[in-house]
Formats: sequence, structure tokens, C-alpha cells
Amino acid sequence: MDDFHRDTWAEIDLDAIYDNVANLRRFLPTGTNIMAVVKANAYGHGDAEVANTALEAGASYLAVAFLDEALALRKKGLAAPILVLGASRPEDVSLAAEHRIALTVFRLDWLEKAAALYQGSAPVYFHLKMDTGMGRLGVKDERETKQMAALIERHPHFILEGVYTHFATADEINTDYFSYQYDRFLSMLEWLPFRPPLVHCANSAATLRFPDRAFNMVRFGISMYGLAPSPSIKPLLPYELKEAFSLHSRLVHVKKLQPGEKVSYGATYTAQAEEWIGTIPIGYADGWLRRLQHFHVLVDGKKAPIVGRVCMDQCMIRLPGPLPVGTKVTLIGRQGDEVISIDDVARHLDTINYEVPCLISYRVPRIFFRNKRIMEVRNAVGRVGTNA
Ligand SMILES: Cc1ncc(COP(=O)(O)O)c(C=O)c1O
Repeated sequence: MDDFHRDTWAEIDLDAIYDNVANLRRFLPTGTNIMAVVKANAYGHGDAEVANTALEAGASYLAVAFLDEALALRKKGLAAPILVLGASRPEDVSLAAEHRIALTVFRLDWLEKAAALYQGSAPVYFHLKMDTGMGRLGVKDERETKQMAALIERHPHFILEGVYTHFATADEINTDYFSYQYDRFLSMLEWLPFRPPLVHCANSAATLRFPDRAFNMVRFGISMYGLAPSPSIKPLLPYELKEAFSLHSRLVHVKKLQPGEKVSYGATYTAQAEEWIGTIPIGYADGWLRRLQHFHVLVDGKKAPIVGRVCMDQCMIRLPGPLPVGTKVTLIGRQGDEVISIDDVARHLDTINYEVPCLISYRVPRIFFRNKRIMEVRNAVGRVGTNA
């Protein structure tokens, strides 16, 4: 690959993203809109590429966490409506309106400030967030909710496009708290003088488990990327998800160690016999964390343990034999019959699968595949090549 100059890269299978959204489209009741959640650079996959693919496959709305993420998508030519799920600043309402970016509102004082500051004439779209039990963002008070709805209705340019809430436990087997939040949302909706056009509550877990309780829009994040929202509900998922993210590197150095010779900082690893050790150019600054010492990678179709401490930019693996420099190493993905899934990495790190692709840093170029061919390559500074 001559589009970048580093032997470590992530491959993003946009066909998998497409299929995950298209399958959802078929699964959901007709009339349910799909909002593709592409915050955090599409969970580390690549914001614009994932957004375009999701829209092609049947999503009609995008969601991000911050206004800057929405503006970045606009800069990359995305024209679909975008909702900012997190808190924005009232000073930035004009900027959002100018770019047809909808904002989340959850405080009356914020809305009053935004109304006082807004000088434009473009419509400003709001989604009112209700806190039904997540305890993060959202209005909880009936009077405040009614005052907010009234202010928006009165304002010549403000539009209440949506109302929503977020579940805390939709990915758990026990559905008591989920049901409590759902019922609370139903009763809180009654506080509004009218139903806005878009009503949404379901993340991936709720979408896939309770499609009949999705109102008219779902916010589809983790499962768009082919990942189960939690290990416990994985067996309950209604159709197979396709993982889109894989991570690869190449051997840049191979050496034979004699018994007793050491590897990496702290000299924590000692060769027990004559061993072949390979160096790969990926480390904790790429998001391949130090805690992945004792985990493994795939090389030559077999598992190879990570030995010694993971360094900032490199780590070492014990090879099954004297493999040539340049041999491909798979850190996440498949080689032959062996697979390392994002869930495997998450389990080793004692965390959730969401965190793993988000951790893989800007330093690792993303290669996007569509229709099984390389479509585009992006590194830290942007697009560096395309075969399309
Ligand atoms: C408000 C909100 N809605 C939807 C999502 C998507 O959730 P998931 O990735 O579980 O589908 C998130 C993700 O964290 C979120 O914060």
C-alpha cells in the first residue's frame, strides 16, 4: 500500500455497515426512521464514510455528541439532518441553524439564553431530552418542560422537531428498569401540548429487542458497527451482525532469542528456550494499551502471544518460527480459521466493546472497503488516496 507510510492500519468494511443498517431497515416496522449514531468519529471507524454508507442503506438522520462533530460532517459534504446529542452552548445556536444542525435542549435557562442571543432567521431545530432515569442530561420537571415547549412554540424561528430519552439498562437481561423508564417516558410525553414529529428512545439494545416500542425513530449506534450492545444480550439478537472493524500490522523486525534473553521495558519477559520474536509497529499511543501484554495476535494463521511490555509505538510477539519481515499480523479480525473479535479484546481489557475501536487513535490510518474493494484511505491528516 503506497497511500501511507506505516505498517499498521485499520480496515473498515463498509459493506458490513451497509448490511447492518439494511437488515435493520427490513426488521423495523414500516415508518420507523433510523438515526445513525456516528459520534466519536463513528466509534473510531470514520465519520463521513460510515455516515454516507448508513444513509445509502436506509438511515435518514445522523447523530453526534458535539457541534464540532456535526460541523466536520457538513465540511465533508454530508447534507442529511444531524442531531447533537450532547450539550451545546447557547452562543452557538446561530451556527447550528446555519448548517441545519438540530440541538438537544434540556434546560429552560439555556433555552431563554439561546432565544435572547439568536439573531438569525433560519429555523432552529430542537430535540427536547427527557431524563427518565439515566441521570445524565434531560429535563425532569413538568413545569419546566411545559415552559420550554411554550417558549419554542412562541419563538418565530424555533422548531420542536423531536423529543427523546435514553435508557440506562436496555442491554441487560432484566428489563424492570427499562420498563420503568419506558413508562415514565410515556407519561412525560403527556406533559407536552403536542407530539413533535420525531419521538425516539431506543439505542441499539432497545431497537433490536423491543422494535415495537421504538416510537418513530431509533438511534442506532454500536450494532451498526456489527457489535452486540452487551455479551449478555448477544444470544437474544434477532439477526446476525457483521463486524466492520479490523486492525492489522506487519513484522518489521524478527530475531532469535537465546534462553534467558529479555524483551522490552522492565525486562519482564525472559525467553525460556530458543525463541523467535517479532516486533510490530503499534503501541499504546495507537490505543493498543499496555494492558494487552499477555494477550495475543494472529500471524501465519495462528495465535501468537504478546510478550513483554507494550511500548508507546511498538510491541513484541512470540512467533511460531522464523517468519519473514513484512509478514501480516492481525490484531483484530480473521486469519484463516482464527478470529480475534473486538469482544475478545474488550474482555482482556475488562471493558466494553464500545471502547475498543474508539481507543484506536488518529495515528492509525483507516482503509475503507466498499463492494469488497478499497474505496478510500484516510490517515491523521485526512484523505490520502482512493481507488474509486
Ligand atoms: C443519547 C444516545 N443515544 C444513542 C446512543 C447509541 O447507543 P448504542 O451505541 O448503544 O446504540 C448513544 C450512545 O452512547 C447515546 O449517548
